[in-house]
Amino acid sequence: MALVLGIETSCDDTAAAVIDENFHVHSSVVESSIEQHQAFGGVVPELAGRAHVTTIAPVVRRALLDAGLDPTSPALTGVAVTSGPGLIGSLLVGLSSAKALALAWDLPYVGVNHLEGHLFAPLLEARDLEWPLMTLLVSGGHSLIVFQRGPGQHVVLGETIDDAAGEAYDKVARWLGLGYPGGPEIDRLAGEGSSKALKLPVSMIGDEYDFSFSGLKTAVVRATQANHEVALADVAASFQAALTEQLVRKLRSSLEHYEVKGVALAGGVAANSALRAGVTRLATEFGLVTHLPTMAMCTDNAAMIAAAGMYHLERGEASGLDLSARPNWHLTDVS
Ligand code: KG4
Ligand code: ZN
Repeated sequence: MALVLGIETSCDDTAAAVIDENFHVHSSVVESSIEQHQAFGGVVPELAGRAHVTTIAPVVRRALLDAGLDPTSPALTGVAVTSGPGLIGSLLVGLSSAKALALAWDLPYVGVNHLEGHLFAPLLEARDLEWPLMTLLVSGGHSLIVFQRGPGQHVVLGETIDDAAGEAYDKVARWLGLGYPGGPEIDRLAGEGSSKALKLPVSMIGDEYDFSFSGLKTAVVRATQANHEVALADVAASFQAALTEQLVRKLRSSLEHYEVKGVALAGGVAANSALRAGVTRLATEFGLVTHLPTMAMCTDNAAMIAAAGMYHLERGEASGLDLSARPNWHLTDVS
């Protein structure tokens, strides 16, 4: 049985996981340093890097033990690690660890693109996935619409021209005096408010499939400055509805032009209740299957990195020890 150890340290989560060639997850451990960043309203790169240094070894050990493997000499067939995009200091901790382990255990290893990892997440929960697939990948750092012919075969149709969707949630939450990360709190509050309370723009700026969220964020600031009486829950509901509307409209446009069998969500914002409902409605209208990952698979984890790594290692695409971290590695540059 082929077993790959995945390692993910691109942002604030230190993660390790073991999966097999059938994409069964044998273990998945995620240790977040988010509490250290909360006082600053966002991830502090230096703190994130230092946290990975102290956490990486115990997290890898736990993932190996949970998978029933000997942590000193595990019966693995390869190692996969996120080598970009992400925070340079954080990426280097995972990459150096993966290189050291691969060298010590005499295993091939491969550097994986973090976004390609997110695209593999639905495969870990629905192995009978039918292709092609349209995926909306929305997280704190990225927002993309991706057409996937099959695993590892992706075309980026559009992406954000300014803020990522999760970043917009986090910035609006900060403006409203809510905690970090702001997405879950806005989502909760939105359930108690009216989405019609504030008239906010649904931006259709940019190319057909591109997104723009910074205008919406400014509109929320202006609207709340002009109306001090408006309830927090109503602001949250109005903002969430406008942001979701843009995502769903662009997704609809992609489904009108590309023939697919299903629609998938990926990334942290995929946990959003309004987005999950909107995308499910849209897919049903088009007669398509919806793939909504569980929360653990929406957010950063190493099982998805191991899955992308398994795909590349099976094709003999191992990396050399001279591989560098690529903080700005774009999904379109993944070969
Ligand atoms: O994928 P992720 O864990 O980390 C990366 O950015 O790679 O995504 C985190 C983002 C944060 O911006 C957070 O506010 C957002 O996902 N998020 C949500 C929800 N849960 C997490 N946004 C909206 N609604 C949610 N329920
Ligand atoms: Zn991510």
